[in-house]
Amino acid sequence: MTRTAARADQPAARADTPAGKLAPLPSGDEKVRVVRAMFDTIAPRYDLVNRVMTFRLDVRWRRQALDALGLGPGALVLDVATGTGDLCRDLIARGYGAIGVDLSLGMLRHATTDAPLVQGDALCLPLPAASVEGAVSGFALRNFVDLGSFFDELGRVVRAGGRIALLDVAQPPNPVLRAGHAVYFGHVVPRIGGWLSDPAAYRYLPRSVAYLPEPAVVAGRLRSAGFGAVKRTLLSGGITQLITATRVVTAPTSGERR
Ligand SMILES: C[S@@+](CC[C@H](N)C(=O)[O-])C[C@H]1O[C@@H](n2cnc3c(N)ncnc32)[C@H](O)[C@@H]1O
Repeated sequence: MTRTAARADQPAARADTPAGKLAPLPSGDEKVRVVRAMFDTIAPRYDLVNRVMTFRLDVRWRRQALDALGLGPGALVLDVATGTGDLCRDLIARGYGAIGVDLSLGMLRHATTDAPLVQGDALCLPLPAASVEGAVSGFALRNFVDLGSFFDELGRVVRAGGRIALLDVAQPPNPVLRAGHAVYFGHVVPRIGGWLSDPAAYRYLPRSVAYLPEPAVVAGRLRSAGFGAVKRTLLSGGITQLITATRVVTAPTSGERR
């Protein structure tokens, strides 16, 4: 599938290079290639680095995401960008059915879950329309080439009344916390990641935050993809955000007519 350049609601992000000059972060097809190669590379030590750099808070954040999902027992939930399958494991432990999709074969090979896993792109999900009751995604939004198209895909595959819960990084609103977090995320995390895994990948991580649109843009785009009750909750002082929404019962979207 051919990717287009970043859309208006997701402008090509720019960030500092080690040389101090502004260099564009990748967009379109190049971003897909860079992201897939990066996760293939860091897959073997992904879980270790995650636990160390978040002091295991990532485990709590995933739990909070599933608390907010609030679906009935046995509901089938898609984990988009499942990586090594943490959310799939948590879903199954709670009695949900789970399916994981991820772009990176390397990440899927290191997954430890009983859920069926499929290599695929979040922007072209390998599932029929209205085939799941819910969808979750952990720390992947900023990796997608086009967030609006991802939300349209969620609107297509999630049944009316279904729920979504999406986690990603955020910047704390409190200025003191924000400054401390900027130092930790911008300087300490790349070092930890560099020691334990791949330096380039963990230098990219803080830069990739620039891809995330403003919260109001995200909420507006979710609404136009067929979701209501959109809610953004900041976790752990605002270093992580949880976005939840409910698939509304409306006339079919263009995605459902496909
Ligand atoms: C930071 S990891 C998160 C993994 C897991 N969800 C977690 O909570 O630990 C981001 C994941 O997004 C996947 N990814 C990136 N772009 C993707 C895309 N377009 N479609 C599907 N998966 C994608 C990567 O391969 C990677 O496994």
